[in-house]
Amino acid sequence: MMDRYAVIGNPVDHSLSPRIHAAFATRTGEDIEYGRLEAPADGFAGAARRFFAEGGKGLNVTLPFKLDAWRWVESHDDAAASAGAVNTIVVDSKAIRGCNTDGIGLVRDLLDNLGWGLDGARTLVLGAGGAAQGVIEPLKLAGATDLTIANRTLRRAQALAARFGVASAGLDEVGCGWDVVLNATAAGLAGVGGLVATDVVSVSRCYDMFYSLDGATPFCRWAAEQGAGAVSDGLGMLIEQAAEAFYLWRRVRPDTGGIAEALRAGA
Ligand code: ATR
Repeated sequence: MMDRYAVIGNPVDHSLSPRIHAAFATRTGEDIEYGRLEAPADGFAGAARRFFAEGGKGLNVTLPFKLDAWRWVESHDDAAASAGAVNTIVVDSKAIRGCNTDGIGLVRDLLDNLGWGLDGARTLVLGAGGAAQGVIEPLKLAGATDLTIANRTLRRAQALAARFGVASAGLDEVGCGWDVVLNATAAGLAGVGGLVATDVVSVSRCYDMFYSLDGATPFCRWAAEQGAGAVSDGLGMLIEQAAEAFYLWRRVRPDTGGIAEALRAGA
């Protein structure tokens, strides 16, 4: 029987992960099956337990289950431990292990695909929820400087910043002069792109951790209109975090080149 993997979430029907992992399987010659698993909002543990009891080999975890997954697994890798969230579950003979590849996925997209250097780059993260939490430590490790978390609710930014030893601010009090500005808020889901004053982003490279297949998320559109130096959505991050998960499961690193373009072209 083929080794079985899936992405678990709610909703999960629009997830691109099955297409991405199918492309990796073809490119690497690995014979795997990768599906979608929708669990009820309060039913993560039951669905995950059943999946592994039936022989499943690994799960990707997406919204809203990354914290449930963190609590459910038996051990954590360093990235998951520091993020406090799990996006990849690996099962081996010893344990069910929770990993987090979101941070490495973001850093690879920024460095390798976009060529946006992070070493010494003044970096601002917008948002202080789960999406922000997973990327602060990897950004620090990549050499980001003056790392600052800005959030609509200031005390959430302060709490997260204290945990990681970085600076915090309210969205309405952020200074300017950033090399890189990352959107980790959920504001785009409500169609909101303009989160900070124009001069915060007008000369910066702006990255949205969310994506849309046309690349034009509300934050990307808004940042481009403010004159940002460069703009990217987060499709590359999604593909790179998937590649790292694939590596954790199969010990083979898939070539990610061209996959974003193929997905955007509707392939
Ligand atoms: P997630 O786990 O997806 O990050 P979350 O924990 O609910 O979800 O966090 C959502 C983030 O988006 C928060 O930083 C939130 O700001 P608040 O902490 O002030 O709620 C931010 N956010 C959501 N909608 C927003 C909006 N319209 N404008 C600005 N920030 C917004």
